[in-house]
Amino acid sequence: MHPMNNELAAVQLSFRHEDRANQAYVQAEQKAAGYFASLQEQLAAGSHVPLLAQDFQIWQKHHVQPFSWLSLLVRNQRKPDSKDVHRYLQWLDAAGKLDSYLDRSISYIFMRDLGKALHSPDTRQRIDRVIQDTKKYFLSTNDTRRKPGLVSPALFYRWGKKEKVEPAVIWVMNKLKRVAANLPKELDAEQAQRKLLKIILGVILHVDDEMNEMTPADERAKRFDAAIRLGYSYGLTYPFIDDLLDSQALNAQEKRQYSELIREALLTGQVPEIGQWKGTNVSMIRYVHAELREAFEYISHYQKNEMQQTFFDQAYVFFQSQETDRAKTLSNAHYTNEELYIPIIIKSSSSRLIVRSVLSSPLDEGFDLRTFYYGIYNQLADDFADMNEDMQAGAVTPYTYYLKYRDLRPDLINPYELYWAVIAYLIHEVYQSDPKTREVILARAVNGLKRCKERLGQEEYDKLMHTFASGQPELNRLVQNMVRKANDVDFLDKLLRDEVVAHLRADKQEKEEFQQTIREVREQINVELQITKPAGTPEMKATLIDAANYSLQGDGKRLRPILTWVMGVREYGMNPSAIVPLLRSLEYMHTASLIFDDLPSQDNADVRRGRSTLHQVHNSATAELTGLYLIQRAIGEQSSLERFDPEAVLSLIRYSAEKAEDMCMGQAMDLNSRGKMLTLEELNMISFYKTGLAFEAALVMPAILAKVDEREMACLKKFAYHAGIAFQIKDDLLDHEGESSVLGKPSGQDAKNNNSTFVSILGSDGAQKQMWEHFYSASEALDEMSKPVPFLKHLLDYIVGRER
Ligand code: IPE
Ligand code: IPE
Ligand code: MG
Ligand code: MG
Ligand code: MG
Repeated sequence: MHPMNNELAAVQLSFRHEDRANQAYVQAEQKAAGYFASLQEQLAAGSHVPLLAQDFQIWQKHHVQPFSWLSLLVRNQRKPDSKDVHRYLQWLDAAGKLDSYLDRSISYIFMRDLGKALHSPDTRQRIDRVIQDTKKYFLSTNDTRRKPGLVSPALFYRWGKKEKVEPAVIWVMNKLKRVAANLPKELDAEQAQRKLLKIILGVILHVDDEMNEMTPADERAKRFDAAIRLGYSYGLTYPFIDDLLDSQALNAQEKRQYSELIREALLTGQVPEIGQWKGTNVSMIRYVHAELREAFEYISHYQKNEMQQTFFDQAYVFFQSQETDRAKTLSNAHYTNEELYIPIIIKSSSSRLIVRSVLSSPLDEGFDLRTFYYGIYNQLADDFADMNEDMQAGAVTPYTYYLKYRDLRPDLINPYELYWAVIAYLIHEVYQSDPKTREVILARAVNGLKRCKERLGQEEYDKLMHTFASGQPELNRLVQNMVRKANDVDFLDKLLRDEVVAHLRADKQEKEEFQQTIREVREQINVELQITKPAGTPEMKATLIDAANYSLQGDGKRLRPILTWVMGVREYGMNPSAIVPLLRSLEYMHTASLIFDDLPSQDNADVRRGRSTLHQVHNSATAELTGLYLIQRAIGEQSSLERFDPEAVLSLIRYSAEKAEDMCMGQAMDLNSRGKMLTLEELNMISFYKTGLAFEAALVMPAILAKVDEREMACLKKFAYHAGIAFQIKDDLLDHEGESSVLGKPSGQDAKNNNSTFVSILGSDGAQKQMWEHFYSASEALDEMSKPVPFLKHLLDYIVGRER
C-alpha cells in the first residue's frame, strides 16, 4: 500500500475507534442518567424513608440490646483496643460474636467485590466455606509461631506455594517493590500501595470464585497465575493514572500530555511512544510509561478476541469519567446535579465492571446490573468519610460541593440524603428486600457513622449531621438512635485496611531506620578496621600490613560485622567498644576469604570492591600471605575480647576455628564442582559452607558472648542458614545479570570459569525461586524467635533486593 494510504487508513481507523469509544461513553451516560433520575424521583417522593424505617425495625433486633445493668457491666469489659487482627478475632470468638462478624464481613465482600446476590444458595455456600477457612486460619492454636503480619511477603509466598504459582508471586513481589521505589513523593505511598494490593486481591478472589473443587490443580495454577499478573497490570492504573493525574507530581502541561497519551492508548489499543516530553519528570514518566505499556500489552494479549472490544470500551469509559470528574473545580458555582453525579456513577461502577472483562470472564448480566447500581453507594460512603481531606485538597465531591454551595444553590441535591435513597434502592429494588443484604448494608452504614463520630468527636459530628441530615428529621432520629445504641457493626475489611496501612507505614519507617543503621555502623567499622603499624616498623615488614589495609579499604558492604554490632549492642545490650575486636575479626576473616577466592588458582578475578585485586597489585604470593596474616590477626582480635567471660570467649574461639575449617571445605567443594551437574542439596550445601557459615558466625558469636539459650541459638542458626544461602543465590544472580560497575567486581565471572552455581544449574528463574524459598524459611525462623528483631527482617529484604 502507498504510504499515504497507509496513514489515511490509520487515521480512519482511529476515527472509528474514537467514534465507537465516544458512543460507549454516551451510552454509559444515558444509563447513569436513567439511574440518577430514578433515584432523584425516589428522593423527591420520600418513599424510601418509610421503607428504611421498617428496615431498621427489623435490623435492630440483632443489634440493639434492651437496656439492662448487666449489659452495662459487659460493656465495661472493653474489647481489645489493639490493632492486632488475631487478638481481636480471638476476643470475638470468646464473646460468641465471631460467626456473625465473619458472616457480615465476608457477605459484604462478596457483594461489593464479587458483585454477588447474597440470597443465591450457591453464594451462601461459598461464603460459608470462606468463613470456615478464615476461622481456621485465625484461630488455629497448634502453631507456636508468631503469626506473620497479614501483608507479609512470606505469607503471600506460602499461599503461592500451596497454589503452585510461585513464579507469579515472585514476579509480582518484584514489581511491587519497584513501584514502591518509583512512586513520586507527591503521592500517598501507603494508600497507593494499599489500593494496588486490594485490586490484585480482588482479581484473585474473582478467579477463585470462578473455580470449584472440580477444577484440576494445574488449571487452578494457570488461572491464579494470570489473576496475579492481570491484577497487577490493571491495578497499576490506579497509582499510575488516576492518582498521578490527581497529584501535584506533574504540572498542568505534563498532565495534559500524559492524559493524551493514555487516551490514545485506549482509543487505538496501542501505547504510543512518549515522544518529546515537555516537563521535568522525564525519568519518572519513562518508568511509568514502560511499566504501563507492559501491563497494557499483558492485558490485551490475555484477552479473548471477542472481549477485547468490550475491554477497551470499558477502559475508555472508566478513564473518560475520571477525566470529566477531575476537570471540575470547587470555584465553579454552576455545576448541575447531573454534572456532579453522572460521572461519579459511571466511574464508581466501571472500576468494578472492568474486572470481569480484564479476566475475559463470560458475560454475567446479574453481576453487571448489581455492580452498576452498587458503585455510587460505595462512592458516597467513601466520599463521606474523606470529606475533610477532600475539602482541604479543594477536590470536588458531592459532599464538598454541597458544603460550599448549599446556601447559594437550593437546587443542589444533598448527597447524604441521596446516600440513604441509594441504600433503600439497593435493598429493595436491586436485592429484592433480601434480609441478609439489609443486615449487611445497614450495619455498614451505621458503622460508617460511628467511625465518623469517633473521629470527629460528638460536637463536630452533631454539627455535620445538622448540615446533612436535618432535612429528614424522622429518618435521622432513627439513624442517630442506631449510631448510639447499635452494636456489632464492625467489618473485617476495615480492620484489614487499617492494618495494611499501619503495616506499610511501619515498614517504611523501619526500613529507613535499617538503612540509617547500616550507614552509621559501616562508617564506624571502616575506621576500626585499619591495622596500624607499630611505631618504628621497618619498611620491609610494613608491606604486608599495607597490603592488608589495601584490601580492607575497598568498598565492602561490611554486612557481617554490622550484623554482629546490631545483635550485640542493640539486642544484647553490650558495650559497643567491648565488641570491636569481634567486629574486626569477622571482617578480617571475610576479607581474607575474598583475597583467596580471587586468586588465579581460584576464581581468577581482577577487580574486587571497586579496585584491582591484591594479586594484581602485588602478586599471588603476597596475596596468599596477606590472607594468612589477616586470619591470624582475626584470632588475635578474638582472644582480646577482654571484657567478657573467658569461658565464653574460649568457646567463641573454638567455634570460630571449626567454622573456618568448614569454610575452607566449602570453597574446595565449590572449586571441585566446576562444570559438574549438581543436585539442589549439593548446591545448598556448598553455598552454606562457603557463604552461609560466615553469616552464621556473625550471629552466633555475639550470641555465645550473650549466653543466649539453645532454643534461640537454633533459631539464629536456622535464620543464618537460609539467609546465607539466599545471599549466595543473589550473588550468583548478580554475577549473571548485574552491572560490574555497581557490583565493584566483574560480572560474568562464573560463566567464564564454568562455575556450577544456582544460576548455571537452575537458570535465572529457578535460582530466583530457590532464593525466595530460602527467604520464606528464614522469615519462618524469625517468627519462631522469642521476640521480633526488625533488623533481621529488613536484612533479609535487603539480601534479596540488593543490587550489589
Ligand atoms: C562476597 O561477599 C562473597 C560472597 C559471600 C558471595 P560480599 O558481597 O559481602 O562482599 P563485600 O564484603 O561487600 O565486598
Ligand atoms: C565466594 O563466592 C564465597 C566466599 C566466601 C569467598 P563467590 O566466588 O561467588 O564470591 P564473589 O562473587 O567472588 O564475591
Ligand atoms: Mg568463588
Ligand atoms: Mg569469586
Ligand atoms: Mg559470586
